[in-house]
Amino acid sequence: MAFKIGLLGLGTVGSGTAEIIYNPQGRHPLLNDITIAKIGVKSLNKQRTIDIAAEVLTTDLDSIVSDPDIDIVVELIGGLEPARTLILKAIASGKHVVTANKAVIARYGQEIFEAAKKAKVYVLLEAAVGGGIPIVEPLKQSLGANRIETIIGIVNGTTNYILTEMTEKGSDFAEVLQEAQALGYAEADPTADVEGYDAADKISILASLAFDRQVKREDVYSEGITSITSSDIDYADKLGYVIKLLAIAQKPAQDQENLELRVHPTLVEKSHPLANVNGVFNAILVEGQPLGQVMFYGPGAGSGPTASAVVADILNIVGVLQSNHGAHALDPLLSSSPEKPAPI
Ligand code: HSE
Repeated sequence: MAFKIGLLGLGTVGSGTAEIIYNPQGRHPLLNDITIAKIGVKSLNKQRTIDIAAEVLTTDLDSIVSDPDIDIVVELIGGLEPARTLILKAIASGKHVVTANKAVIARYGQEIFEAAKKAKVYVLLEAAVGGGIPIVEPLKQSLGANRIETIIGIVNGTTNYILTEMTEKGSDFAEVLQEAQALGYAEADPTADVEGYDAADKISILASLAFDRQVKREDVYSEGITSITSSDIDYADKLGYVIKLLAIAQKPAQDQENLELRVHPTLVEKSHPLANVNGVFNAILVEGQPLGQVMFYGPGAGSGPTASAVVADILNIVGVLQSNHGAHALDPLLSSSPEKPAPI
């Protein structure tokens, strides 16, 4: 059976995704059954890092989400709009959706998952948190036996890079931010990263999955790293700590109903595993019963790692569709059972 992908966006992650799909050798055999039918871009004439046949490219993104030949829409344009509307249109047209869009899922996850449930399509988002680190699927599936108590993560690569450079080189925040922008780690507008908003999006998604409830994005307290100085880092060092931007979701002691949700710079003891997560790497420490602690660690951003997570979701959908012969039966890949609120 052949499956057709419509890719929305051919930036860093879109190019990485196309690269994998065009080069299936040595990878999962199901990649041979997947073709990219259309790619939605802003400009047809842009210089690209990857060769794409001209007839595949279009600037008409609506034509992709409504194309009857396309089975899976992969949304990699980021931002709230038109991403949210395109995802909802794709679902309404009966297409499965893969997205890396943490901002949309953190704010409109419930609406999107309810629409997906009605349309009996899959919406997967492994790439939205932790770049190439598998964390969404483990929280939904592999850790399902556990009562999750705490999630503590370094989930923003840009700020972790900045804090690492400030620690290792004694540089100032502004200086390292400029370097990070020149290296392409930080966005031209780095507000969402440095103010902790990106990490807040990500922890609200993880908390919704882990604690099986719809976490409201606005309930996450967020404080960024813009006021951290090199002397803060020096003092922390002398006391045996490093400063990390942590995203935390936990059940307060004696209170199983509520959640503490926060993102802020934190003193982390040098011997703690999270203290040694450096550069653009991310790590997510999950504590649950009966498992205890498990830490997921790896490249949290960038073309190849994030594309790895996007393609994993595509393969997951294709695998299920192949085994169901397109029956689209409700199964664990879809969101929670009808009597519970959608997990995100
Ligand atoms: N801006 C994000 C980060 C990209 O720095 O982690 C990956 O979500």
